[in-house]
Amino acid sequence: MIELPDTLEREGLASLHSAADADALEAWRLKYLGGSGLLKDMMGRLREVPKEQKPQFGKRSNEVKARLESAYEERKSSLGASAAPRAAGPLIDVTEPGFEPAIGREHIITRVRNELCEVFARMGFEVAAGPELEDDEYNFVKLNIPDSHPAREPRDNFYVEEGGGSSRPRMLRSQTSTVQIRVMEDAIKRGWGPPLKIVAPGRVYRPDAVDATHSFMFHQIEGLYVAHRVTMVELKTTLFAFARMYFGKEAEIRLRPSFFPFTEPSAEFDMKIRLRPDQPARWIELGGCGLVDPAVFQAVGLDPEEWTGFAFGFGIERIAMGKYGIPDIRMLYENDLRFLRQI
Ligand code: DAH
Repeated sequence: MIELPDTLEREGLASLHSAADADALEAWRLKYLGGSGLLKDMMGRLREVPKEQKPQFGKRSNEVKARLESAYEERKSSLGASAAPRAAGPLIDVTEPGFEPAIGREHIITRVRNELCEVFARMGFEVAAGPELEDDEYNFVKLNIPDSHPAREPRDNFYVEEGGGSSRPRMLRSQTSTVQIRVMEDAIKRGWGPPLKIVAPGRVYRPDAVDATHSFMFHQIEGLYVAHRVTMVELKTTLFAFARMYFGKEAEIRLRPSFFPFTEPSAEFDMKIRLRPDQPARWIELGGCGLVDPAVFQAVGLDPEEWTGFAFGFGIERIAMGKYGIPDIRMLYENDLRFLRQI
């Protein structure tokens, strides 16, 4: 009886050593360390041991128990993952391809707007914004567009029914040129320090019949530079630099004399770009520009004898359609995923 702990230790270690997988290890654990296993059984036999041998038997039993337990832990970790008891439930095949989450992306208008702002930012333009719901003071009057001007026709603008109160007719802005006025007035309020150099992208609204090139809502980006002695040369240089940065080294621009009430002289500007490598470059009409009319400076309270500036404005859809070869403006608003995913 006194030899029982030694025997158990020897046999236990030997059979543990030959337990080669998780199942064998688990069987070993139940046999030796389990609730009704051999160790427990040995401990219970202390009662049967003659009195003078009890201390010796007890001490050895405890040693053997500790030894087998730590040997078990060692064996378990040396067998590694294969020794871990199998998880219940289905096995996971880690080589199986996963689900690809649907990741959204910027709409092309948003992308082009951000790209334009970035290119102008590199030339020192800050980004400004103004409200889409305006009054005719900002959309027309301060931009030197008189009451009699045909651009103010109700049928060409979205005027808004007034709930009362406001003295000026309210409307959805028809051009981002409104932001020119707001930015200058704001700068004066904040203590005006030239130069002022901003671009303002945003939505504009006109009740045009929708077709491949027209929409009742579209986007423009406006530019304004105010400083001393600004000339057409700086305007053209700026537009030229923009064209090259955005469309590449081969881009060209040209100005054609035109008329806008808020610039003098005024011009329309076109850009010559190659849209596809297999096609010749062609001219695309982009927008209007010119030197800020003295009447506009007067309207915001700046001395036209002292201040000069240039302004430009063009359609963002035009640029996007040109850059990505989109044939119909309506594709930009339909949100057909098959179209959106291509760009
Ligand atoms: N606001 C004009 C339009 O909607 C475009 C424009 C022309 C903007 C000349 C300008 C400018 O800043 O100087 O057609």
